[in-house]
Amino acid sequence: NMSFDTKGIILAAGKGTRLMPATLPASKPLLPLYDKPMIYYPLETLVRLGIREILFIVQEDDLPIFQKTFGSGQEAGLNFSYKIQKIQRGISDAYFIAEDFLDGASSVLALSDNVFLGKNFFNYAEEALSKMKQEGGSIFGLPVPDPEKYGVIELDQNDNIIGIEEKPLQPKSNLITPGMYFFDSRACEHVKTLKPSARGELEITDLIEIYLSQNKLALQRLDENIIWHDTGNADALLTAAQKVKRYEMENGIKVGSYEIASYEKGFINKEALLKIAEKFIKSDYGQYIKNIYLKDKN
Ligand code: G1P
Repeated sequence: NMSFDTKGIILAAGKGTRLMPATLPASKPLLPLYDKPMIYYPLETLVRLGIREILFIVQEDDLPIFQKTFGSGQEAGLNFSYKIQKIQRGISDAYFIAEDFLDGASSVLALSDNVFLGKNFFNYAEEALSKMKQEGGSIFGLPVPDPEKYGVIELDQNDNIIGIEEKPLQPKSNLITPGMYFFDSRACEHVKTLKPSARGELEITDLIEIYLSQNKLALQRLDENIIWHDTGNADALLTAAQKVKRYEMENGIKVGSYEIASYEKGFINKEALLKIAEKFIKSDYGQYIKNIYLKDKN
């Protein structure tokens, strides 16, 4: 029974109205962030965490294009499922939609428009995952200059979380919760007790509050070397793309490739990796993957 393994959920149902008309032909998570669709980045993180069962929550109109783009996941050694979000009811709604898929498993919920870069990022994500397994829920804490736009964490003198507020006018700290959340199987029950907020959404911060009130919430801080982007508007999208390019050049690596992640995790063999490279062979992305294949002697 696989259901005890943590599963992944990517919420990719945003309309991208702040990116119009760029999002007229394709929904926001499928827009390119530098050389790959934006959604590749959170997908890579889930795979690097060892998660192979992943649910995409999409808008109804986008289902065919998502299925065409990602298929069953099998070529990449993964198992993809799809569910539709009919009405945008907020991030916590993901746990209504994902209940059958999770089937009692814990989960990592990733927002498709949040991109994280940094040498230690995957270590932090692993830490957050193991804290969730011990405590019930865990969230990242990241200092930003404009906390009022996000979910803001309040800490006491001993660095314990004592509160979390969605887009407060007067933020109690500069520490925010970016869009990747770690919850045990109880999340599906907890969301049933939530009421829509003033903006009409089932807020993720309200779900986090429940874990906090039960003393089951852990904090994983991200350091200042982690680059984080919420790619909401055109400028943010361009800046994020430039940062990805610069990060890849400076470190001589490719980020955001769930296919490479899957290979490095041992979920696919060399031959399967080569097949993926050949699909994209005319692009630098395909060539990069082919080189991994050629260099790996095993
Ligand atoms: C959402 C969450 C917020 C979180 C942010 C990260 O905000 O509600 O808590 O900090 O994502 O991107 P929204 O996208 O609704 O503005």
